[in-house]
Amino acid sequence: MYGIIMAMKILGIETSCDETAAAVVENGTVILSNVVVSQIDIFAEYGGVIPEVAARSHLEAIMPVINKALDDASCTWEDIDAIAVTHAPGLLGSLLIGTLTARTLAILHNKPLYAVHHLKSHVYANWLRGDSFAPEFPLLALVISGGHTQILYMRGHNQFEIVGTTHDDAVGECFDKIAKILGLPYPGGPSISKAALKGNPNKYRLPHPKVEGLDFSFSGLKTAVLRAVQKEVNVPISYPSHKLKELLSAEQVNDFAASFQKTAINILCEKLAAAKEEYPDIQSVVIAGGVSANKALRDALPDAFFPNVSLSGDNGAMVAAACFFEIESGVKPTDPYALNIYPRVSIEN
Ligand SMILES: Nc1ncnc2c1ncn2[C@@H]1O[C@H](COP(=O)(O)OP(=O)(O)OP(=O)(O)O)[C@@H](O)[C@H]1O
Ligand SMILES: [Mg+2]
Repeated sequence: MYGIIMAMKILGIETSCDETAAAVVENGTVILSNVVVSQIDIFAEYGGVIPEVAARSHLEAIMPVINKALDDASCTWEDIDAIAVTHAPGLLGSLLIGTLTARTLAILHNKPLYAVHHLKSHVYANWLRGDSFAPEFPLLALVISGGHTQILYMRGHNQFEIVGTTHDDAVGECFDKIAKILGLPYPGGPSISKAALKGNPNKYRLPHPKVEGLDFSFSGLKTAVLRAVQKEVNVPISYPSHKLKELLSAEQVNDFAASFQKTAINILCEKLAAAKEEYPDIQSVVIAGGVSANKALRDALPDAFFPNVSLSGDNGAMVAAACFFEIESGVKPTDPYALNIYPRVSIEN
């Protein structure tokens, strides 16, 4: 007798930072809908995320976003097999809105509920590329986002081992902070990469931090750029960093952006090369997280898997994809009456 092959449709919900997002994904690989409402416009004014404002915006957007994700996928609640939601790590108030909504919907519509770690979701964005290539195990995943910089070794689906991590700032955070010094708009990653296109990457020599093994450090690079800018415009190190942008020419801004971007990419590529030497059995390298949108990094790593640029940042589709492969690896649903949030928790837990 032939078994019936069913397609599993998962609704993924993501609210860990400043994007309110929901998506419907079939079998972890086919996107039926993907709705992302970004709060970038609100926070551009402040130059960064304000947690209380982010939580309030999620509250306003979450149900319209979920309803649109269902509509766009031409789904009713009957078609949805499971709900997946980000429960860690992230901003406390933001995580609360997403998980409370998912818990309520799971109870209301009697659906199994799965709690997903945000960094797993970023990695699984690489299974949503829509082409015929899927990463193969064992693999190395370089997670580069606003809050994390890690190298992960994956023996198989849902098996994550941290083999390198940052001692201080994340690389995305470094892009954001340096953009602020240079007077470039928030978020810093896209504006630095745009400015870098017009700049000379060899104009300013910036140091590579000396960190043992496969770990990273980015706070020294941020300070090095600050000192180089102060030196360039002839002010003492006590000069307020938020006023430096008034003294920089457009050419200097572009050259600093290009020099910093080149250094950051070199650091990431060097550590990845060292990781490949340490783990010669790996079959694939995948890059994940918001910084993976960076064009110069994509050019520097032609053999690595990158998510589609639209799925590099936070979205619900990657949550649904991660959930599908968790279910395939035997993970059981969570109790919707008891699901907790964890603003800071390792992917290994
Ligand atoms: N083209 C780009 N080049 C470099 N960095 C980029 C680019 N586009 C976005 N970024 C950076 O990506 C980061 C946002 O990524 P992401 O949304 O994954 O982070 P997050 O969700 O806030 O943090 P985390 O995933 O660690 O919880 C920001 O720091 C942003 O500047
Ligand atoms: Mg993220």
